[in-house]
This record gives sequence, structure tokens and C-alpha cells, in this order.
Amino acid sequence: MDAIGLDNSRDYYGKVLGGSADLRTDACTMPGAVPALVRAALVNVHDAVKARYYGCGLVVPQALAGTRILDLGCGSGQDCYVLAQFAGPRGQIVGVDATREQLAVARDYADWHRDRFGFPAATVTFIEGDVSRLDALGLANESFDVIVSNCVINLIPDKAAVFAAAHRLLKQGGELYFSDIYADRRMPAALRANPMLHGECLSGALYWGDFLTLAKSAGFGEPRLVSDRRLGIIDPEIAELVGPVAFYSATYRLFKLDGLAAACEDYGQAVRYLGTIPGATHNFVLDKHHDIDAGRLFPVCGNTYRMLQESRLAPHFEFFGDTSRHYGIFKGCGTDLPFSHEEGAAVGSSCC
Ligand SMILES: C[S@@+](CC[C@H](N)C(=O)[O-])C[C@H]1O[C@@H](n2cnc3c(N)ncnc32)[C@H](O)[C@@H]1O
Repeated sequence: MDAIGLDNSRDYYGKVLGGSADLRTDACTMPGAVPALVRAALVNVHDAVKARYYGCGLVVPQALAGTRILDLGCGSGQDCYVLAQFAGPRGQIVGVDATREQLAVARDYADWHRDRFGFPAATVTFIEGDVSRLDALGLANESFDVIVSNCVINLIPDKAAVFAAAHRLLKQGGELYFSDIYADRRMPAALRANPMLHGECLSGALYWGDFLTLAKSAGFGEPRLVSDRRLGIIDPEIAELVGPVAFYSATYRLFKLDGLAAACEDYGQAVRYLGTIPGATHNFVLDKHHDIDAGRLFPVCGNTYRMLQESRLAPHFEFFGDTSRHYGIFKGCGTDLPFSHEEGAAVGSSCC
């Protein structure tokens, strides 16, 4: 069990940091390639909200129109207000955070954003609460299409509780799409006890091997890596403290689908992407190993087929084949490593 948790997070994000520029690593920076539609949505987010953004990745999965979305650790609300634009006036976004100062900023600009988006009513609400105790917040089981989280789970000592609750709150076929900080090893106790390293999202970083075990134990059969980058530890004090530990920011998508196979199995199935998702007319990126051209017949393993056919993504695909005939393991399946030790490069994945 980590020594440091919620009190330190509240102190760090409510009092120590005044804004994004106060962070001491590049953990909480936007990745280089922000899709054009997300860039356009960010223009509609108030500067005061953006000034207190501490996320480490992009948490905007595709096909969100009309969906109900939960943001775990929403901070000042930047992701909530971006997602609200993709979910549209029929969508609903719920942000949960434990730091009052951050939530106050998020709430202060709720009306401003509703006006800016031209929605008849606000679609974003914020709840003050502990995301490791989501059961206490009165959210109904199986009531969310998508759950996102951006650089939060590393801060939480009881990570298993977060994955288990997210699984309960998602509808069947829903997904947890989240960016977080990972380490290439389990953190030594001395680093876990350091409040600054915790606040900077380093000392609570998930060891990727433990993450895969936790996610699978919670019922998320086959975590899919969407993107990853190695963090630059440029602050000399932090570099000295963490020594050889390598940190990564990575975005995963975890579908709630009962009975996904442990490995990628080949049944001769294929899909064709129809090019119908706004902002993705030419190709659809499921994860780091599936960049699917529109119009092209694309062979997939049994698990990928199900992720596309049994989720909100289904109307955007044609599906070919079934599981009546098995051809062995799907060619091209990688190892169980989510990312390599080289900066930003993947060497394989838990998927095909
Ligand atoms: C690195 S910031 C990221 C905030 C936000 N996702 C963003 O992108 O700006 C981490 C956030 O997690 C929140 N947090 C940490 N532990 C929490 C917990 N147990 N329950 C709820 N929120 C928590 C902090 O208050 C803080 O706002």
C-alpha cells in the first residue's frame, strides 16, 4: 500500500500548484499530434480552465455523440468541456474530483461553456468525491457508455478499487479510455513516501505488469494500448531521486466485454470501416496496432471483432465471418509488453 494519497493530492493540486506551468516534469503536457477536431474543441474551452489543466494525454475516443461519460479526476474540467462538444446536446458528462479549488474553477465556467456550445441546457455536472470510493457517489451501475481519466489513477493508492468500480459503472460494451503514468518497475518505498514525487504523478505510477493484472482482475479482458511516450525527467532534483526508473505516459482503452479470449485468436474474421465517424473519414485508429483504412477489408482477431461489433462503434463497421472455424493464433500477435524501454516506441502489445 502506498504511503501517500488523497490528502497529498488535494494539497498539491489545490494549494502547491497554481497552474500547469508550475509542474516540474513534462508528464502533464499535450502529446504532439492533437487531432484537428480536438484542437477546435479546445478553442471553446475557457482559458481559466485550461490554465489549471494537468492531464498527461488525450482522452477523446471516437463516436461520442449522445453518450453518457464519466471523467475520473476531472480537475478544472478541461476534458469534460472538450468531451461535451463531442457528445453534443443529448450527451451527458459527469466529472468527479476531490480537490475543491479545481472543482470551483470547473463549476464557475459551466454557464459560459453552455452558452459557447449553444446547448439549450448544461450537459456537464461536477461531483466532489473520492474516485477510489465511487460507490459512495450514488452513480448507477451500468449507466455510462464511456469512462475517461487523465493522469489520476497513479495518484490513488487503491488502484484496484478504481478499476473495479469503473467496470461496474460501465454498460456492457462500454469502455474505460484513460491516460496515465506508468513505470518500468515497482516503485521503491522511499520514492512512494515522497509527497512532491506523488504530486508530480511519478511515485504512484503503475508498474505496467501490475496494471495488466489489475485491469484483467477487474474484468477488462484485453487492455489495448493506444499511444505512449517516455517522459523527460529534466528537473535535476527529480532525476537524482528517481535514478534509473523510466516513466511513460500511456493511453489505454479497456472494453467491458465478458469472455474476451486471453490471446488474439484467428477465426478468419474481417471488418470494413465505413468512414462515418466525424473527424475520422479516412481511417479509424482502434489502438497502436489497428489503423483501419476506410473502405478496405481488414482482417481482425476474435477480440478486435467483438470490440467493434459489441460497442457503440458497431454502426460504423461492416462485419464479416463468425467463430465457427478456428485458424489458430492471430498472426502478428505481440508479446505482453505494452511499451518498450526505448523512448516512445512500442515493441509489441497485449493485442494483435
Ligand atoms: C494530475 S491532475 C489531472 C486533472 C485532470 N484530469 C486534468 O486533466 O487536468 C490529478 C487530479 O486528480 C485528482 N485526484 C487525486 N486523487 C483523487 C481521488 N482519490 N479522488 C478524486 N480525485 C482525485 C486531483 O484532485 C487532481 O485534480
